[in-house]
This record gives sequence, C-alpha cells and structure tokens, in this order.
Amino acid sequence: MSAAVPGTPGAPVTVRVPAKVNAQLTVGGLRPDGFHDLANVFLAVDLYDEITAAPAPEGEGPLLTCSGPDAGRVPLDHTNLAVRAAYALALRHGRSPDVRLHIAKDIPVAGGMAGGSADAAGALLACDTLWGTRTPREELLAICAGLGSDVPFSMTGGAALGRGRGEVLTPLEVGGTFHWAFAVAEGGLSTPAVYRECDRLRERHGAGAGVADVPAPEPSAALLDALRAGDADALAAALTNDLQPAALSLLPGLADTLKAGTAAGALAALVSGSGPTCAFLAADAASATAVARELRLSGTCRTARTATGPAPGAAVR
Ligand code: C5P
Repeated sequence: MSAAVPGTPGAPVTVRVPAKVNAQLTVGGLRPDGFHDLANVFLAVDLYDEITAAPAPEGEGPLLTCSGPDAGRVPLDHTNLAVRAAYALALRHGRSPDVRLHIAKDIPVAGGMAGGSADAAGALLACDTLWGTRTPREELLAICAGLGSDVPFSMTGGAALGRGRGEVLTPLEVGGTFHWAFAVAEGGLSTPAVYRECDRLRERHGAGAGVADVPAPEPSAALLDALRAGDADALAAALTNDLQPAALSLLPGLADTLKAGTAAGALAALVSGSGPTCAFLAADAASATAVARELRLSGTCRTARTATGPAPGAAVR
C-alpha cells in the first residue's frame, strides 16, 4: 500500500457507486447480436459499493480484493467487471493497468440491482483519478457501455431512460424522493439466463421472440409523469418489468416474497431487473421500514433493506 498523503497524486482513491432499481423494464425482441432493445427506466437508490484504487508496482496488473458479507460470492479474477474496467482504461491510454482494487460490497451480488455494473463504473472512475488520465466524460461513458449495458447508468445515477440495450441514456426529472424496501434472495440469478427464459416463454406462448414478433419497447408516459411529479401512488400503478415472469419461472418462490411485501403494506411489488431481488415501493420512510421488517420475518427472503431514490451516480469520496 502506498504511503502517499490522501489527495496527492498516487494516493488511494475511493469512489462510491449506487445500486439501481428498474421502474420500467420493457423488453423488445431478441436482436441478431444477442441483446434485446429496451425501454428501461433506471432509478438509482442509496445502497452503495465503494471501490478503492491504490497504486501497484509496475507490471503487477490489476489485483482485486473484496470485503463485505457477500464477498465470498464475488469473482476476483479477470471476469470481474471492475478488473475489466481497469484493463479497458489502461488500453485507452496505452499504459500498464497496474492497480490494487478493493470493493467494499454492500449491493446484493447477482441480485438485479447492478452491483457488478456499479463496481465497473467505480473502478473506471477510481483508476482514471489515480492514474491522472483525465478521460473526458463522454469517453468514460463509452468505455462503460463497452463493459455492460447497465454500466453507463451506474456512472450517471439519478434517474434515466435507457434505450438501445439500456446504454443510451436520457436523464429524467424526478420531483421527489421515493421510499423502497428490497428483499434480498438466498442466491442469485444470471442475467443472460433470465433473458433466455423470457424468450423461451414468449416462444412457448406462440408469440415468437424475435425483433419482428415483439412490439418495439416504448417508455410509459404515465410512469414518466409519476416520476416527474414525485407521486408514489401514481408510480406504484405504473411500475412494470417484462423480465418478472421469467424470473418467477426460474425461481417460483419469489411469488411468496412479492405477496409478503404487498401484505405488509407496500404500494407495489416487483422483481428488480433480472432479479432475484424483489423491490417494494412504499408510501413513506416509516412504511418502507415496516415492509422490510415484515419481509425479514416472513421467511421468504434472506434479508431485507430499505433505500431511497434517486441517488447520485459514481463519485470520488
Ligand atoms: O450488457 P450485459 O453484459 O450486462 O448483458 C449481459 C447479458 O444479458 C447479455 O449477454 C444478454 O444475454 C442479456 N441482455 C440482453 N439484452 C439487454 C441487456 C442484456 O439480452 N438489453
């Protein structure tokens, strides 16, 4: 570890990055490149991973460590998006990717809350700051998009409409704070497996899963109005997730989790992204706390958390 003074060149840099929930996830047909066009309304929430980049000896390359209750489930090799982010930035600047990365993990692992994407965005910003490479924002966002569909949003935070495969972002206005409870499942779900199951269910129902068979995804005007107005009841009525039937098909027990949160007074319940975390919109902070407490007691999830959104994007601490 470097003995440099914080704030000086070469001192370790820590970046905080939020989790996300999808208020709308409308999935179009399967594209020839294996992705799906989306109308994806992202809302960042205040559960954070912290990624620290510290100097490493020349030629060492990126070395990753992780702490937190779920650390044992985080891969520490080149398959981790944070390591890939360090390589991508080093390549862009023609430099050696020497860095010691540490993830302090609080976002559920493989939970549909973009934890891996958060670590990628965090590692990118932390390395850019540590190395003094001063990459323009637009280029950082392009590198994010190359790493994964949700990574650009992890960088920007707030609320945004994601088009394309989710990486083409338009910031959205939000007129208030929304209160959520999240039920964290025992295991994780693989995002590609959930998209595949979505296609399989569409085929099985005779609709076809290709771009020509599925309507082009469009953002919901009612949902965007609800966000702009900060109206939790209106938002609750407009929340949708096309991946929910697929997540429920792969993990049928999630139906009990959704029921438990609704019975506890949530305004709405839905699977978060590709799951298996379930998200519950509450009327206020007290209700979110009560929903989380009841979820913990219900035996239908591993644990439950509360969070509010929108939350800011990746930022150096
Ligand atoms: O972009 P990302 O690496 O997060 O995507 C992981 C996988 O999820 C893709 O390989 C694809 O199977 C699926 N996916 C998709 N359509 C999207 C985003 C992801 O089919 N818009």
